[in-house]
Amino acid sequence: MQKITIAIDGFSSTGKSTVAKQLAKALGYVYVDSGAMYRAVTLFAMQNGFINETHFDSDKLIANLNTVEISFKFNNKLGFAEVFLNDKNVENEIRTLEVSQFVSQVSEISEVRRMLVKQQQQMGKNKGVVMDGRDIGTVVFPEAELKIFMTASAETRAKRRFQELLEKGANVGYDEVLENVTSRDKIDTTREDSPLTKANDAIEIDNSYLSIEEQYKMLLELAEEKI
Ligand code: C5P
Repeated sequence: MQKITIAIDGFSSTGKSTVAKQLAKALGYVYVDSGAMYRAVTLFAMQNGFINETHFDSDKLIANLNTVEISFKFNNKLGFAEVFLNDKNVENEIRTLEVSQFVSQVSEISEVRRMLVKQQQQMGKNKGVVMDGRDIGTVVFPEAELKIFMTASAETRAKRRFQELLEKGANVGYDEVLENVTSRDKIDTTREDSPLTKANDAIEIDNSYLSIEEQYKMLLELAEEKI
């Protein structure tokens, strides 16, 4: 059976990673969460004091990018790959609201994008990959055989993310999460380098009223048509 590349792009918290993981498992493909890579670089910038509430020294971040090493290691128990930053497991740390608050600013930096896009293309060079993000169908794999663009209302997305954070024991308010989701969308869609936009040949799916199971079945059928 021939292997294809599946690109899933869309706004924050549209459930891209949930369905991408399900698809990769069903097809025996590799799942790559490209957002995790931007989050890991953001965590690096925070740990080194390059970014905080009041300042962002992007030049320092750029100058130190050569010391950032991001890798994924498959965790059999969890059933997916966890993210490592310079050999330290940062899977949980990168998902906090603090990192979410700075990640879109870091993702605007072209040098950061160039470095991560190169690594992503390397990971998908043999196809058989499901990658989710913001620019996968437009920049990373413009030749992907299947491109999905996921949307859902901001409120639906904020509710989902809020629930996820609560389950992890985070002390956050719904309004704070909604504000983060909408402000990230704004930066992600308006940045100069690789803004979030639907590729011409992407299939748009609004999953506001779809269950996880319905969405998975829909995407699996679309993938099977291409294989
Ligand atoms: O997918 P996730 O919400 O974890 O991504 C976090 C952030 O990383 C996004 O809001 C966006 O700023 C950035 N990102 C990006 N390009 C990608 C994936 C994520 O700019 N391919």
